[in-house]
Amino acid sequence: MKKKVVPLIPKSPAEFNATGSATVYHADAMTCYAKWPRPTVIVADGPYGLGKFPGEPNTADNLGEWYAPHVAEWARLALPETTLWFWCSEVGWAEVHSVLKMHGWRYKAAHIWDKGVGHVAGNCNGDTIHGFPVVTEICVQYVRDTQLATEDGEPLSMKQWLRHEWQRSGLPLYKTNEACGVVNAATRKYFTQCHLWYFPPADKMVALAEYATKHGQPTDRPYFSLDGETPLTERQWERMRAKWNHAHGVTNVWNEPAVRGTERVKSTGLKALHMNQKPLRLIDRTVAASSDPGDVVWEPFGGLCSAAVHSLRSGRHCYASEVIPDFYAAAVRRLTEESEIDNTRRAETNRA
Ligand SMILES: C[S@@+](CC[C@H](N)C(=O)[O-])C[C@H]1O[C@@H](n2cnc3c(N)ncnc32)[C@H](O)[C@@H]1O
Repeated sequence: MKKKVVPLIPKSPAEFNATGSATVYHADAMTCYAKWPRPTVIVADGPYGLGKFPGEPNTADNLGEWYAPHVAEWARLALPETTLWFWCSEVGWAEVHSVLKMHGWRYKAAHIWDKGVGHVAGNCNGDTIHGFPVVTEICVQYVRDTQLATEDGEPLSMKQWLRHEWQRSGLPLYKTNEACGVVNAATRKYFTQCHLWYFPPADKMVALAEYATKHGQPTDRPYFSLDGETPLTERQWERMRAKWNHAHGVTNVWNEPAVRGTERVKSTGLKALHMNQKPLRLIDRTVAASSDPGDVVWEPFGGLCSAAVHSLRSGRHCYASEVIPDFYAAAVRRLTEESEIDNTRRAETNRA
């Protein structure tokens, strides 16, 4: 008798909307990106090349090729304010870094998740291992290298564009200091073309634009305008780089045990349902640092959709996808429970 083949992805992908704001698709992420709103944060926790879940390559060798179409889509749809948190094994990341760089993702920092020596217990045979047990994963932060166009449409890096716009006004460079009300910080920090360049704060940018308009050559194209037509505002300029909400005392080494207890999603045999469920504490650390409530978060490789759970808790809007039916179903259950808790909490608050 012929065996019935169950397709991995149904013809018309299922979609689940949790009350609050998390939408998860039973679909290949590649088919989702174009229909999702553009993201402030991308939490990418896909294949590591460890062969741990169905469909995951069992070597990191070709991970760069595997990720390339996803990386291209993230680049195409990212905003200047977007941060990408790329989770992987160390060697997996090494394979993918050059692809990310090629698509204009600028490396900021690699964070090491140290699960601690407890993670070794029972998993290590000293006679055969011939190396130290691995208890880490890596989470690498990337931001966009934004380019801005001149009046002729030529794309320039941000520091080149700032210099270009000032020169267009015909004013000498030292006048940027007067425009910003500083002794020499503007020429030294915002208009230098070397590695000591700083992104100008929004109030200084608006001051520069107003000064150039008042004292520079008359023009139909407002100086430092982002669309070439309307004067620059502080709000617009603030969104020209990745968001960052600083938390003191956090370093790039994260000591955090693997998920356990009630947070761990279990299958019927009480075994962990997904080998790669991320701790909500680490999701919170990254997403809270790089976005605000109301922002859009993408979780293309959903698994149990930890970033979507975090979005429900923190007032963000998450769009997630997962290809494997069992993981998709478990994520839907998890998000349903989460939004029920949330509704109960809301009802209690309303009654109080
Ligand atoms: C490392 S796990 C994610 C775990 C998740 N961060 C969590 O906390 O539960 C990666 C997941 O991505 C899914 N996946 C792999 N390729 C995918 C694709 N092209 N589109 C959507 N999901 C995919 C896998 O089935 C797997 O469940």
